[in-house]
Amino acid sequence: MSDRTPYIAANWKMNKTIEETEAFLAEFLPAVGAEGPDVVVCPPFLALKSAVEHCAQSRVRVAAQNMHEEEAGAFTGEVSAPMLREIGVDAVIVGHSERRQYFNETDEALARKVPAALAAGLEPILCVGETEAQRDADETEAVLERQVAADLAAVAPADLDRLVIAYEPVWAIGTGRTATAEQAQEAIRFIRDLLRARDEEAADRTRIVYGGSVKPGNAAELMAQPDNDGALVGGASLDLGDFAAIVAAAR
Ligand code: PGA
Repeated sequence: MSDRTPYIAANWKMNKTIEETEAFLAEFLPAVGAEGPDVVVCPPFLALKSAVEHCAQSRVRVAAQNMHEEEAGAFTGEVSAPMLREIGVDAVIVGHSERRQYFNETDEALARKVPAALAAGLEPILCVGETEAQRDADETEAVLERQVAADLAAVAPADLDRLVIAYEPVWAIGTGRTATAEQAQEAIRFIRDLLRARDEEAADRTRIVYGGSVKPGNAAELMAQPDNDGALVGGASLDLGDFAAIVAAAR
């Protein structure tokens, strides 16, 4: 048995205004017990500061959904890691498949983003995962190997446990088609073995979670697998009752 603390993150994507974020947290925070999994909410940029202030008296932490790899400069429309730290953000999602697909986020950029996040004191939540065509072509492991190698190229092996990795098969995101618990375990185990090849102890400590149509009805079974340390939840995290049930399933 691992002694990794389960990790549950709510990726709200481009949903919830500041007002909606505050209303959610006002109800959600008192319901989060003193013990249990690490719980992280990832609102849109504009709601981050208010979310940090609301979460200050709780053990819920706040993450951004993206960042730029440079600290400052002529990058119109971007936000840097030190800017996120300045307002008390603790973590940041990087490499989400929607950013890879719609905003051209590349492995080369991720190779710079992950160390930039760590250097600023942010916990990167690195998303990796194969598309449906890649799974059908039996390329899942090759894709994961390529993404992990490229995205973590500049991370010192002993620092690997400062990251959270989310295995998010692209075909399961927002589709209602959850990976089976066995498929998730198999891929997460494979990722852990990739980390193990770089640093055995860090690999055993690194939280690797599953994401893709996690719901209250499937969360417990997914997280019962030995290598699966939690969930990155999209759609179901927008609903307070559903997200609270997923958090409760990780206890
Ligand atoms: P979903 O999204 O739970 O809506 O499938 C997961 C994610 O994109 O992180």
